Amino acid sequence: MYDVAKIRADFPILAREVNGKPLVYLDNGASAQKPRIVIDAMTHAYAEEYANVHRGLHYLSNLATEKYEGVRGIIARFLGAPDPEEIVFTTGTTEGINLISYAWAAPRMEAGDEIVLSVLEHHANIVPWHFLRERQGVVLKWVEPAPDGSLDPEKVVAAIGPKTKLVAVTQMSNVTGTLVDVASICRGAKAKGVPVLVDGSQGAVHRPVSIPAIGCDFYAITGHKLYGPSGSGAIWIAKDRMAEMRPFLGGGDMIREVTRDLVTYNDPPMKFEAGTPGIVQQIGLGVALEYLMALGMENVAAHEAALRDYARERFKGLNWLNLQGDAPDKGAIFSFTLEGPAHAHDISTVLDKKGIAVRAGTHCAMPLLDHLGVTATCRASFGLYNTTEEVDRLVEALELCHELFA
Ligand code: ALA
Repeated sequence: MYDVAKIRADFPILAREVNGKPLVYLDNGASAQKPRIVIDAMTHAYAEEYANVHRGLHYLSNLATEKYEGVRGIIARFLGAPDPEEIVFTTGTTEGINLISYAWAAPRMEAGDEIVLSVLEHHANIVPWHFLRERQGVVLKWVEPAPDGSLDPEKVVAAIGPKTKLVAVTQMSNVTGTLVDVASICRGAKAKGVPVLVDGSQGAVHRPVSIPAIGCDFYAITGHKLYGPSGSGAIWIAKDRMAEMRPFLGGGDMIREVTRDLVTYNDPPMKFEAGTPGIVQQIGLGVALEYLMALGMENVAAHEAALRDYARERFKGLNWLNLQGDAPDKGAIFSFTLEGPAHAHDISTVLDKKGIAVRAGTHCAMPLLDHLGVTATCRASFGLYNTTEEVDRLVEALELCHELFA
């Protein structure tokens, strides 16, 4: 049984007050809170088991290496990926996608080659491709979502032409919560011989993931949204794609031999992991993913689907609330504006006074906001510990905003 009260007790911060009110944390899309088990594991790693990895022969170095390397297997299990050697550690999705842009895409793209993107993407899955547009004349081909925010996978596949070298698409929009049928996109792209990068920043947080079922070539995750530490993350890269990649960052750990005249590289995945990594961050991520797997991602998904449905019912009564891109199949993420003069920042300030944390602005997704025809929205993004009572608190505070600003 999914016991949300028990789960909430695992997250120390949820017991605090903000502005004299019990915290209602609805900014999980930006970053999720951490269970005590992650915080304790990181303290333990620093207090009892810390040394650099892959470098020492002494006890602590071996212990830290074993713990750190063990996380590759945990991430692989979480993603349903068969081989831990296909996991490259990163500081998050942004680094993962930049790695693919620099190490895989840049050397094999010429002026006029295309990358197909959806307008749902956030900046981490846009700007690394803009670099290739600016520097190499690569063309970005954008696929528009439908007015309800949903994305037709057929439209994405239809946009793939003879010059397309990559499709880069999110599994779930961080602004509207739209779920994208990435498996269909991968099937269509594969039939045309084009690799697909899936941005799992949100998707992996809210749904069980099976990389073999998706059939992508690259799948990026970020630890801080997965209830793990900031600065942790990974990208899964299919073995044959990894073999095509040149190194991106150079330094220690990614080399086999360095002389004055030459350098040879370590085997993948370490070939793509230069310098001392986020040792304790990745250990914390491993603990967070074990925590999620113990809860069961299908149970997390069911809990959040119930919250989404409850919130939708409550929002129905608010005819001055404009939900942006409220697709039928979506996660528990709602972007909205209010009728009247109130800016999203005003609304979030009033909500904050009531102890409710939401994000206001463009959500690192300016092309999507432009498509929606708004300059800013408020976003309430729910996580595994949120409750229907918190939806009620949000609705109550929005009613107050409506009275104040109407
Ligand atoms: N991309 C993150 C968000 O959705 C930071 O807020």
